[in-house]
Amino acid sequence: MDRLIIQGQKALCGNVDISGCKNAAVAILPASLLANDVVVLENIPDIADIKNQVRIMREMDVDVEYLDRHTLKVDSRHMKNDCANSESVRKMRASYYFLGVLLGRFKKARVAFPGGCDFGVRPIDLHIKGFEALGATVTTKAVIEMQADELRGTNIFLDFASVGATINIMLAAVMAEGTTVIENAAKEPHVVDTASFLNSMGADVKGAGTDTIRIRGVKKLHGSTYAIIPDQIETGTYMISAAVTGGDVTVHNVIPRHMDSISAKLREIGVRVIEDDDSIRVIGKGCRLRPCKVKTLPYPGFPTDMQPQIMVLLATIPGTSMINESVWDSRFKYVDQLRKLGANIDVESHLAIIEGVEKLVGTDVEATDLRAGAAMVLAGLAASGVTTVSNVNYIDRGYENMVEKLQGIGARIRRDSGREDPQLSVITGNAV
Ligand code: UD1
Repeated sequence: MDRLIIQGQKALCGNVDISGCKNAAVAILPASLLANDVVVLENIPDIADIKNQVRIMREMDVDVEYLDRHTLKVDSRHMKNDCANSESVRKMRASYYFLGVLLGRFKKARVAFPGGCDFGVRPIDLHIKGFEALGATVTTKAVIEMQADELRGTNIFLDFASVGATINIMLAAVMAEGTTVIENAAKEPHVVDTASFLNSMGADVKGAGTDTIRIRGVKKLHGSTYAIIPDQIETGTYMISAAVTGGDVTVHNVIPRHMDSISAKLREIGVRVIEDDDSIRVIGKGCRLRPCKVKTLPYPGFPTDMQPQIMVLLATIPGTSMINESVWDSRFKYVDQLRKLGANIDVESHLAIIEGVEKLVGTDVEATDLRAGAAMVLAGLAASGVTTVSNVNYIDRGYENMVEKLQGIGARIRRDSGREDPQLSVITGNAV
């Protein structure tokens, strides 16, 4: 399996273009099936999770065509309502969106159990309670089966502001009879983007981005052309690449407002962050960085999907920092890998206590999930010597062209299919 080989301690400088938002795209692509029409989606990221969803949709007889690398044309007029035998569904968490979509469009669905990154228990009970509240009968045995004579709008209070449950209930409710109100709804930018997309197809969704979303059911949806928002987490990852290497990087095609919690935390640490209309410049060069406390929270709080990346930065800042992971039960598994590079981190339940070290030292590490994989790359960029990161397939799930984008800002990184000795090729000068 491929791995990345990184020669670290090079300050990254230059410009990076950010791709479309993974977590919006993996909701909007299935949502396009609600229309029984033709939909064109622009700014789709070229990542493995999207290719996987395209495979699932083709298995359901949806006609999906790439108009170019980032534009998909989806014609779902002849699709079926069953993806229960799909191996591809089991490969990713976001395939749970086919539940809401199939229920919403056909009032009947058979879907395999979704998979995804391992952060401990990843239940979908809130999704299922929501579908039941709308009138569906749900059975979960070998596969998930759902059926409803009629879907009826109702009030749904979420125990936790779950991103997936909020979006899935919206998908099921857009064509229900009457009005559905979701309280304690998730407010993430991709929730808002999915609602905007549904409205572009003729849905009536109001309040997305606040705690209360109101969905007035409509009879049917129509085709639309829609562009996905930029990726908040990819943006944050490149912002940290500038901070952790003492560099100067400008990220382009971003929505600075979506980055507020990350920009604020970087400023607190002592990094210079300069916002423009659709770009952010991050300067680590010449800055004295300070330790800090981070708590992950639903939006607009600090995103859990940036927790491993900021961990790497804090691991390199002398002094004591703390990270409290309040969204997922078990999202510090990757810390063992950082310790191999010399990081000094203690983990107790949801709390990580970080004693920053003067420098990390390159070695062999593995990506244990998508964002942890990005964190290993950041650690390798900061470390002295050579770091190899294995299990690159995790990173491919959510980062478009990461190697090329990093090379574009001066990183000494390359992808290797496992046939060469990385130490040797570094010495001969053609490695990274
Ligand atoms: C989405 C993101 C993921 C991110 C997470 C939190 C996608 C495809 N993935 O995941 O990258 O880490 O939001 O920002 O958008 N929960 C329940 N019952 C449920 C659903 C969730 O108890 O039915 C709990 C989870 O165990 C977790 C918390 O709610 O502790 C957050 O989960 P949720 O917001 O649903 O995350 P996902 O939508 O799966």
